[in-house]
Amino acid sequence: MEVVIQPVEVLAQLAANAIERVLQERPTPVLGLATGSSPLPIYDELARRHADRGLSFARARGFTLDEYVGLPADHPESYRSVIDRELVSRVDFAPGAVQGPDGAADDLRAACAAYEEAIAAAGGVELQILGIGTDGHIAFNEPGSSLASRTRIKTLTDQTRADNARFFDGDLEAVPRHCLTQGLGTIMSARHLVLIATGTGKAEAVHQLVEGPVSALWPATIMQHHPHATVLVDDAAASRLQ
Ligand code: F6R
Repeated sequence: MEVVIQPVEVLAQLAANAIERVLQERPTPVLGLATGSSPLPIYDELARRHADRGLSFARARGFTLDEYVGLPADHPESYRSVIDRELVSRVDFAPGAVQGPDGAADDLRAACAAYEEAIAAAGGVELQILGIGTDGHIAFNEPGSSLASRTRIKTLTDQTRADNARFFDGDLEAVPRHCLTQGLGTIMSARHLVLIATGTGKAEAVHQLVEGPVSALWPATIMQHHPHATVLVDDAAASRLQ
């Protein structure tokens, strides 16, 4: 695992450089996309590169990590809407090239299986962008998640719902209780993991991720077993590293 400690603007450049390499080198690049606030500087940088010098996503496919259950896809805080707003609408993905698990499906188990099949049919994810929750989750693999899990239905912890209430005008009751999420096994199948974390709120999770024992209690620690994992952190998020 490589750990890079830099200001957020530099972290965004580094992640965008890695994504740009995948876009240039792969005939059909497959990107894993995270939502939440952490990757936004990366998406801003990619949108800038697209506008300034035509960095193209036209051949690329994208798979998001997770989706709330019970929000209509056109709800402004569904992860479908978030990724459309923050990245897809600002670059040139082909229509339908970015997909996510269907949290509005009648049969959620079938939707999870179909999502795993879609990722596999695309050839797997080349580069997966990740954020980390204050409780150490990646995607929505909350503490206690199986380290080998695949896409499935999960219950969000009270901590995660409280953390995410800021996206729902501070209304905790409006935050869904369940989600569909890629599993830790699914994420580990991606060929390069790039996690970005900023701010003191992430310092304990980053300490556990990098220096803690591998444990389902801090799900992100599974990344220690990945052959190519990059952790991008600012000074604040790195403040508990030894
Ligand atoms: C989002 C996701 C989550 C977030 C995490 C951190 O698709 O999978 O794991 O990355 O909750 O969220 P932020 O970046 O908003 O602090």
